[in-house]
Amino acid sequence: MDIVVSGIRSTGNLHLGNYFGAIRNFVRMQHEHHCYFFIADYHSLTTHPTPSDLHGNVKQVLSEYLACGIDPEKATVFLQSDVPEVPELYLLLNMNAYVGELERTASFKEKVRKQPENVNAGLLTYPVLMAADIIIHRANKVPVGKDQEQHLEMTRRFARRFNNLYKVDYFPEPEPYNFGEALIRIPGLDGTGKMGKSEGNGIFLSDEPSEIRKKVMRAVTDSGPEHPGQEKSEPVQNLFTLMQVVSEKETLDYFEDHYNRCTIRYGEMKKQLAEDMIRLTGPIRERIKEIKADDAYLRKVVMAGAARARESASATLRDVREIIGFKPF
Ligand code: TYM
Repeated sequence: MDIVVSGIRSTGNLHLGNYFGAIRNFVRMQHEHHCYFFIADYHSLTTHPTPSDLHGNVKQVLSEYLACGIDPEKATVFLQSDVPEVPELYLLLNMNAYVGELERTASFKEKVRKQPENVNAGLLTYPVLMAADIIIHRANKVPVGKDQEQHLEMTRRFARRFNNLYKVDYFPEPEPYNFGEALIRIPGLDGTGKMGKSEGNGIFLSDEPSEIRKKVMRAVTDSGPEHPGQEKSEPVQNLFTLMQVVSEKETLDYFEDHYNRCTIRYGEMKKQLAEDMIRLTGPIRERIKEIKADDAYLRKVVMAGAARARESASATLRDVREIIGFKPF
C-alpha cells in the first residue's frame, strides 16, 4: 500500500483546476492507499490573509473537500496548522535548503514579479514547508497538477539530501502522481495560462449556474477557422481542453468535427460547455452548502484528522531527531 499526501492552499474557493488536477484523484486514491489530505493554511499566510478571512477560507475548502467525496473515514483529512510537527520538520529541513536554489524556483520568481511589495521569507522557503508536509508521513505518491512538478522535484531533492547527509535510507523520494498519465493543467477562460484562484479566469465549484453561464459565454475565442484542419489558437484550444474534461466524448467529437469543417459556432460550443460544467458542479455545490452549515461535523472531522496526522508525524519526528543527533539527557 502506498502512502499518499497532498494538500490545497486555503486562499479561496476551489476551482475546476483544483478539481481535475488534484481532488478528483484524492477521491479515487482514498480507497486503495493510506491517504493524508490536508488544507495548507500555513502556506496561505505567504499572501497575508486578514485574521477574519483565514478561518472562513479554511472552512470553505474543508467543506469543498468533503463535498467532492473525500471520505474522512477512509482518508486522514486535517489542517496543516493542527500538526506542529510540520513546522518543526520545516525548521530542520531549512538548515539544508540553500537560498540560491530557493531563489531559482519558478513559483518564487513569479511571486516576486506579481507581488514585489511583499517578497517575504515564507515565499522563499515555500517549497521547504511543502517538502515537510509530504515527507513527514514518509509518502511516496503525491497527487498534484502540473504546476506543482518543480515543487515535487525539490521535495525529492531535500529528502535525498537528508538521507545522504546522515547516511540513512529514511525518507522515500515521493513522486507526483496521476495514475500513470501526464500531470494535468486546466486552462483558464481568459485565453492564456492556467486556471487560478486569483486570475479571475476560473469556474469555482461553488459558482451558481447563472454565474457559470456568464463566465463561459465571456470566454475568449477567435474569429474562427478559415481552412479545414487549421491549427487551433490558444484560447480555442483551451475551450476544447475544458470540454475534454467536463463533457461526454460525443459532445467533444461533434465540436471537433465542426471545427475541422470550419462550421463551428463558438456560441453553441460555449453554451454546451457551460451546461456540462453545471451538470458536474451542481450536486457538489449543494453538498458544499449542507456540509458548511454543519459545524459539529466539521469539528469532528478535523479533530479526528489532526489526531491521526499527528500520530504519523510525531513518529517521523522522533526518528529524525535521533538521526540528526538530538539526545535526551
Ligand atoms: P494550490 O492550492 O495552488 O493547488 C492545489 C492543487 O490543485 C492543482 N491545480 C491545478 N491543476 C491543474 N490545473 C490547474 N489550473 C490547477 N490549479 C491548481 C495544483 O497542482 C495542486 O495539486 N503548494 C500547493 C499546496 C501544497 C501541497 C503540499 C500540495 C502545500 N503542501 C504538499 C501537495 C503536497 C499549492 O499551492 O497548491
